[in-house]
Amino acid sequence: MKNKVNLFSFLLSISIILSFPLLSFCHDSKNYFFENPYGICITPGEDETMLNFSWYSKKDNDSKIKIFNEFGEEKTYKGKSKKLDNNFVSNKVTVTNLKDNTTYYYSYKLNGVWSRPIEYKTKNSLEFSFAFMADPQIGASSRTLNSVEEGIKKDVLSWNKVINKALQKENNLSFIVCGGDETNTKEENQKKISNQEYSGYLSPYYLQYTPIANVIGNHDKDNENFYNHFYMPNSSSLGKNIAGGDYYFKYGNTLFLFLNTNNLNINEHKQFIENTLKKNEDVKWKIALFHHDIYGDGIHSQEKDIKQLRNTLPKILEKNKIDLALCGHDHIYSRTYTLKNNKKTKEFIIERFDDFNEKVEIINNSKGITYITGGSCTGSKFYKSTNNKSNYVKFKYDEENPLYTIINVSKDKIIIKTYKVNSDEMIDSKIIINK
Ligand SMILES: [Fe+2]
Repeated sequence: MKNKVNLFSFLLSISIILSFPLLSFCHDSKNYFFENPYGICITPGEDETMLNFSWYSKKDNDSKIKIFNEFGEEKTYKGKSKKLDNNFVSNKVTVTNLKDNTTYYYSYKLNGVWSRPIEYKTKNSLEFSFAFMADPQIGASSRTLNSVEEGIKKDVLSWNKVINKALQKENNLSFIVCGGDETNTKEENQKKISNQEYSGYLSPYYLQYTPIANVIGNHDKDNENFYNHFYMPNSSSLGKNIAGGDYYFKYGNTLFLFLNTNNLNINEHKQFIENTLKKNEDVKWKIALFHHDIYGDGIHSQEKDIKQLRNTLPKILEKNKIDLALCGHDHIYSRTYTLKNNKKTKEFIIERFDDFNEKVEIINNSKGITYITGGSCTGSKFYKSTNNKSNYVKFKYDEENPLYTIINVSKDKIIIKTYKVNSDEMIDSKIIINK
């Protein structure tokens, strides 16, 4: 048995080494972002034992993933394919029966050929970390540069950088959650550019072994590219538009609920949240993600849809005891007080400095919800700060620096730290939510 394992590991290593120069070339190649529409995306599956894979190809019968473990045992999973009107096929496959803390390898079928085996390590789902990034908005830089291609290329390099930084900071990341506006182009008649932006979004090599779950932003909502490129778990017909509906996944003791707030039918979101909680009564933590930051104080804060959401959504989140809400849209980082009934809760938040001289804010058994709006993670677009003085916002960071957030989840604690991509400094206190 041992010899078999060694031989298998040896063959895998050779295959990975042989394919590495090709990959490096792809990432250095000037046109890689525009000519490779085949980027694979791994999304967390319905729970920690599953993963969803999605990718484009040119052939009909490619929706297959082969998984093998370190003992050389292999299993092929079949999924579904959908022919698109741009001559591509969107493939989606779910893999099941994965165990925590285990090394697997996967191959996917691309134009009739199996890919090289790619290593994927599952993590400890009961004590884990994930990264939160908002508004990469690949392609938004085009408005300040000479061409669409230059804009996409610039944003893809920044996107690659923020993922790399997050993985360096926390090399055991279970996944990334992205708070919407993954790409920039919304217009139906600009499909070619939108496709290039999605190719860019999926081009970082890290995404071949780091799952990512995406919120539907206002830039993503009118375009079926979102739906075709990503395979959302537990996908609901509630909160739906052309890009998809509300969806969720469970990871260990934590439920991640993704609301498509482009759809303003609040009763559908309410129904989705209630149905989901009924099916998952045993979870400890509940984290909601949606694009429109209802309590931020950036330029969107007084817009009609935001006001409508602010008047309706928090009640539902509070009633269902959501612990944390993560949003985007404003391209300015802000963090609220713990809020309930549109007011600060009266609880005392402990503020102190820890042994590393980091400022810490500790929230104990709060009855309210902390809302965090991520700043732009790529810097593809910054908004100027407003003079609004929000009663909801406890801390705001409006300097033009790309940001990302690392969140650790364990049995009794959620720890949140937000960093500048370019200097590694924390911009806000370390937030600890105890429950
Ligand atoms: Fe945005």
